[in-house]
Amino acid sequence: MVAFGIFGIDQLKVFDHFIIHLYVLYGKAVRGLHSLIARFRLICYGAKVGKHLSVRGWINLHISPSASVVIGNNVLIKSGFPDNPVGGSLRTGIWAERGARLTIGNDTGLANVTIVCSKSISVGENTFIGGGTVIYDTDFHSLDSAVRVRGNDDHVRASPINIGNECWIGGHCIILKGVTVGNQAIVGAGSVVTKDIPPGQIWAGNPAKFIKELKGESE
Ligand SMILES: CC(C)(COP(=O)(O)OP(=O)(O)OC[C@H]1O[C@@H](n2cnc3c(N)ncnc32)[C@H](O)[C@@H]1OP(=O)(O)O)[C@@H](O)C(=O)NCCC(=O)NCCS
Repeated sequence: MVAFGIFGIDQLKVFDHFIIHLYVLYGKAVRGLHSLIARFRLICYGAKVGKHLSVRGWINLHISPSASVVIGNNVLIKSGFPDNPVGGSLRTGIWAERGARLTIGNDTGLANVTIVCSKSISVGENTFIGGGTVIYDTDFHSLDSAVRVRGNDDHVRASPINIGNECWIGGHCIILKGVTVGNQAIVGAGSVVTKDIPPGQIWAGNPAKFIKELKGESE
C-alpha cells in the first residue's frame, strides 16, 4: 500500500525511527556540550567539580576568587524552561561572595535554583531542590535605616544554611539565613523557611510550619 508518495508504511516507520534516534543523539550531544561548558566555566571560577557533572541549559555564575565552591559527584543541574518547566524561564544561578563557602553534595539535583552565598551554604547528598527555589544566607541590607540608606551594608546579618541528605525542597521556596533542614526532610511548594526543620518531617507554608512526620512513606 502506498502511504506517502512513493514510500510505503514500513519505509516511513524506518524513517521515523531514524529521525527519533537522530533527535535523541542531538539531545545527548547538546547536554554533553552544556555540561562541558559549565564544568569549564566553574573551574575557571576556581570551583572544585566532582565527576559526572550533568548540566542542562546555561547556568548563571558569579563566584568571587576568594570563595570556595565545591560540587560533588553526579550532580545534576537543570537550567531554563526547556529542561525544567517548574520555575518558568528562570535559570539556575550560583552567586558566591568574597570568602563564602558553598558545597553541593554527591548525587544532588538543582532545577532553576538560585543560590546566593555570602558566608556558608551546604547542600547534602541525594537532595532534590525544585524549580524557582531561592536560597540566601544573608539579609542583603541592614535593619538600621541610617546604615541601609547610606548603602554601607558591610555588617549585614548573615548566617550559614545547612540542607541535609535526601531532602526534597519543593518548587518556589525561599530558604532564609541560619536555617538547617534535617536529613530526609521535605519542604512543600512555595514555602518560606525561617526556622530549622528536624530530619524526616514535612514542613510547608509561609512561614514554613510542621505538617507531618514521615514514617516509612512508600510514595
Ligand atoms: C509537600 C507535599 C509533597 C506534601 O504532600 P501531601 O503529603 O500529599 O500533603 P497533603 O496534601 O496531605 O497536605 C497536608 C497538609 O499540608 C498542607 N500543605 C501541603 N502542601 C502545602 C504547601 N506547599 N504550603 C502550605 N501548606 C501545604 C495542606 O493544606 C494540608 O493541610 P491540612 O492538614 O490543614 O488540610 C506537597 O504538598 C507539595 O508541596 N507538592 C509539590 C512539590 C513540588 O514543589 N514539586 C515540584 C518541584 S520538585
